[in-house]
Amino acid sequence: MPKRATITFFCKHCGHEAARWEGKCPACHEWDALVEAPSEKQPKGKSSGSSRRTLTSSSNLKPLREHAREKLPRIAVPMSEFHRVLGGGIVPGGSVLIGGEPGIGKSTLMLQVLGALVSPVSADGKVPARSCVYITGEEAPSQIAARGLRLAGATPVGGRASGFESDHLKLASETDLERILDLLDTERPQVAVIDSVQTLRDANVNSAPGSISQVRECAMALVDAARQFNCTVFLVGHVTKEGAIAGPRVLEHIVDTVLNFEGETRLDLRVLRASKNRFGSTDEVGFFEMTQGGLLEVPDPSAALLDRDGAADKGPGSSIGALCEGSRVLLVELQGLTVPVPGGGSPRRRASGVDANRLAQLLAVLETKAGVPFNTLDVFASAAGGFRVEEPAADLPLALALASIATGREVREGLVSAGEIGLGGEVRPVPRMEARIAEARRLGFKIILLPARGRTQLPAQIEGTRILRARTVREALALGLA
Ligand code: TYD
Ligand code: MG
Repeated sequence: MPKRATITFFCKHCGHEAARWEGKCPACHEWDALVEAPSEKQPKGKSSGSSRRTLTSSSNLKPLREHAREKLPRIAVPMSEFHRVLGGGIVPGGSVLIGGEPGIGKSTLMLQVLGALVSPVSADGKVPARSCVYITGEEAPSQIAARGLRLAGATPVGGRASGFESDHLKLASETDLERILDLLDTERPQVAVIDSVQTLRDANVNSAPGSISQVRECAMALVDAARQFNCTVFLVGHVTKEGAIAGPRVLEHIVDTVLNFEGETRLDLRVLRASKNRFGSTDEVGFFEMTQGGLLEVPDPSAALLDRDGAADKGPGSSIGALCEGSRVLLVELQGLTVPVPGGGSPRRRASGVDANRLAQLLAVLETKAGVPFNTLDVFASAAGGFRVEEPAADLPLALALASIATGREVREGLVSAGEIGLGGEVRPVPRMEARIAEARRLGFKIILLPARGRTQLPAQIEGTRILRARTVREALALGLA
């Protein structure tokens, strides 16, 4: 008689595997979450292909609306900025690339995420049976451990003790792909961090670690192992300022999710953005601050961005924009600076945190449509706090900052603006005007300058907050500058 495939059960919620059915998942304590699944254990060397074929057999062919009812299992990350950017937690079996410049804080972030994942879930010290491994090819485990313990003292996660003392968080130093796969197979962690992909080495590939073929082969094997072992793998990858290095670029289509950790290494603000996510939107953004005690979450970035520089009393050249980042509105300070071109050379334009092409276009529009001359001036423009502005709605606040510095007239006190500016000098409508107004009012701003066009019907005044609408850039300057 042919041997029947062994039946196992796995938890829809956390991915825990169990040999027999129980009403409550022994790992995450979710009720009614265990479902039957054919065993995925198979002889080593075989890829997950055949097991995937079993799982996607005819039983999986169902009307779309039935599939829509199935929820992806997710592991909650008790670090809300990270949790949100992932699209609502970690997906078991998924692969995530964390890219960023060296020194930006990728290793710190991932260590803190693992610490949070194994931290006790309740006041009585109950620990989720989550196992995490951190595999490093960059630093000695003792170095990472020391950092973890130092961070544990400094940053309790969400008000709870962090899990750096936990047995569920293990570190290893390894760069050999085969040994890492063995380790994942024997240990079967739920979450693994590989830091970094550039240090990995597949003995079957004849090129140096960090080369495109090494990075690609190693990443593909790890992504495959993640699916097969139902373990979420985070791959850390360095990118240079030019984005030129072999690695993250070639990895982007291999992994399920790509997160970019950004900021000015000189400054404290760090922004985590998803640029690809098979399991959620790419709109969400997480904010962190790098401190002596590691990364702190910044749940109110507007206040943090404005507070830090004391945005008031800046004089000419400073203007606040209400800009959308994912589902949030942020108040960001935009700054302009001009100096006469030395010795009649050609004027320079420097942008930091704002798009250089956008800056050039705005200067041209200000000059031709509003009569503000820049042709004998070097122009510098930036977003404060190391923040990178991407929304076209930043045009209007940036135009105000530039016109302000060029004319010496300050932007009106307590004014926030948002609006796109077209080549014809027209102020174009932007989405989510009510949300922008609400955020500006929350932080105590009294005048909000918005595009006149757009579908939104807005009152001219909301309880002491004036709402001004401009049709053209010329009109905007008249309304916005003191
Ligand atoms: P790291 O996580 O090692 O960066 P990456 O892995 O992206 O290369 O962090 C690098 C910087 O972060 C380092 O220059 C020091 C700083 N840092 C702090 O300011 N506070 C801390 O608690 C830690 C751990 C690092
Ligand atoms: Mg590192």
